[in-house]
Amino acid sequence: MTVTPPKQFAHAVLPSATLDERAREDAVRTLRRTVLDRLVPGVADAWRDRVEPALPDPAATRAEIRSAMLADPFVQHTFSLRRIVQEQVWDTTAQIVGRQAEDLAERASSMPARAGGTLQLDPDLPIPPYLKTLDVHGMPTGYWDEVTDGHDVAAGAMYDRGVYLYALGRSGPLGDSRGRSVAFDFFAERLPDFRPARILDLGCSVGHSLLPYAELYPEAEIWGIDVAPGVLRYAHARAESLGRRVHFAQRDAEDTRFAAGSFDLVVSHILLHETSAASLPRIFAECHRLLAPGGYMVHAELPQYADQDLFTQFMIDYDTFYNNEPFWGAMHDTDLDRLAVEAGFAPEDVSVAFVASGRTEGTDRTGRSQPGRSPGQLQLTVARKAVAR
Ligand SMILES: C[S@@+](CC[C@H](N)C(=O)[O-])C[C@H]1O[C@@H](n2cnc3c(N)ncnc32)[C@H](O)[C@@H]1O
Repeated sequence: MTVTPPKQFAHAVLPSATLDERAREDAVRTLRRTVLDRLVPGVADAWRDRVEPALPDPAATRAEIRSAMLADPFVQHTFSLRRIVQEQVWDTTAQIVGRQAEDLAERASSMPARAGGTLQLDPDLPIPPYLKTLDVHGMPTGYWDEVTDGHDVAAGAMYDRGVYLYALGRSGPLGDSRGRSVAFDFFAERLPDFRPARILDLGCSVGHSLLPYAELYPEAEIWGIDVAPGVLRYAHARAESLGRRVHFAQRDAEDTRFAAGSFDLVVSHILLHETSAASLPRIFAECHRLLAPGGYMVHAELPQYADQDLFTQFMIDYDTFYNNEPFWGAMHDTDLDRLAVEAGFAPEDVSVAFVASGRTEGTDRTGRSQPGRSPGQLQLTVARKAVAR
């Protein structure tokens, strides 16, 4: 049964779409759903029925599986089509956003800060090379580039509307299913007595995953940082229009320039795989420096490769090769627990937790219900800073 996704919630800076644009979005959505739900499962059949039986020796690595699979015409076509649909997601969204980029910038900059959040930009902050040298997951101009003078929010608008289309609406009307899962399934359920006074989200983008923390911890002072100005301007206007008091700042997660020990909780959601091997240890060390004793660091990503069979690794590794996510596979191979210990956390204070990735209940402000959760899990790397004894 196909569950109709809820409509994306039309907050004040969400780009609107004409009937023509909606029709194109619907067509792209249908094509993407067809590729993901009908064609991609056939890749496993190709492996089981044709490719694996023809191998002289069992595959010992996912690279061996990949090299054998890429000779199969069905796999070639499926992967190519999946990439083409990804480009159509962004082409469609870029037309929608491009048409109203000036208007969106104006709307965002004139949004009254009624909720009391703030925005700090730093035009001198360098954009890390791993973001600057390619359009991450094919999003034209990446996160950081600006297309209008002054108060540009195009990258934020692209990310918000485009990711909703990409995710087939499965991340909920506010795109917040990931943050809701970590906030409510992990913190509220498993650490009910933990009440952080200051919270920091690294690589917050437009704030999709951050806003649930403002709901769970309404008394907390909540910060989101990102290196990209356009997503932050958009995030600030979006949060204010949704009545969430959050502070946004343009800072690098490797060197945030916040005071040592000034946060009780530092989180990230799907940030790590978009950074680099060199930046990961620096981000972990910065988290350790930022935390007050007893504070928590939590990084949420799709599950690491270590516990997955080789074929599953090969399937998930699609993004490394076809989705402009060059560090995807390497990050999923990295021992994040070890990085946490090397950053200064005591081994006994580091653990792994899993939550279902798609908690969307309660987010539908349009009145339509979104039953169930999207499939899959998030793996959380959890570390608690030691309390001095
Ligand atoms: C996939 S998006 C994350 C989205 C968001 N956390 C969420 O869950 O909706 C990754 C974001 O991280 C930002 N980013 C990448 N490297 C960063 C760094 N070193 N410091 C701060 N932000 C960074 C990018 O600009 C982008 O907005």
